[in-house]
Amino acid sequence: MGLYNDKVMDHFFNPHNVGEIAEPDGAGTYGSPVCGDMMLITLKIDDNEIITDAKFKTYGCGTAVASSSMATDMIIGKSVEEALQVTNQQIIDELGGLPAIKVHCSVLAEHAIKSAIYDYAQKHGKTYEALEGFDPNAEEDDHSCGVDLSEE
Ligand code: FES
Repeated sequence: MGLYNDKVMDHFFNPHNVGEIAEPDGAGTYGSPVCGDMMLITLKIDDNEIITDAKFKTYGCGTAVASSSMATDMIIGKSVEEALQVTNQQIIDELGGLPAIKVHCSVLAEHAIKSAIYDYAQKHGKTYEALEGFDPNAEEDDHSCGVDLSEE
């Protein structure tokens, strides 16, 4: 097998949910200071707090595309509370694994989803335990990456 498995390659070549929802209920971006890549996630959320649609735009690497494709697939149909529980490790697992150096790309997807839900919460006066202490503008911290691009 090459560096990337077939599922990752499929989500890269045929990504799901690409684009931007007009008048979203929540929108969040996240840029990685590690690599400079950036992701925008927009959400439609109904009155029952169910995510009825999610789209992404990623200005980044192929793994970021595959991660956001999978991540948006995973949260559509979920409640906001359930979507907040989605971790980058679950995204990796659903993709069937990522090379270690590309793990941080999945963190981008997790963070962008949380940012979009944070925006929704702000606009709708909601609070969620999982967002306590969450800062949408925070930079990636140690748990996320450890990739030293200077070695490439
Ligand atoms: Fe930065 Fe993949 S998101 S290298």
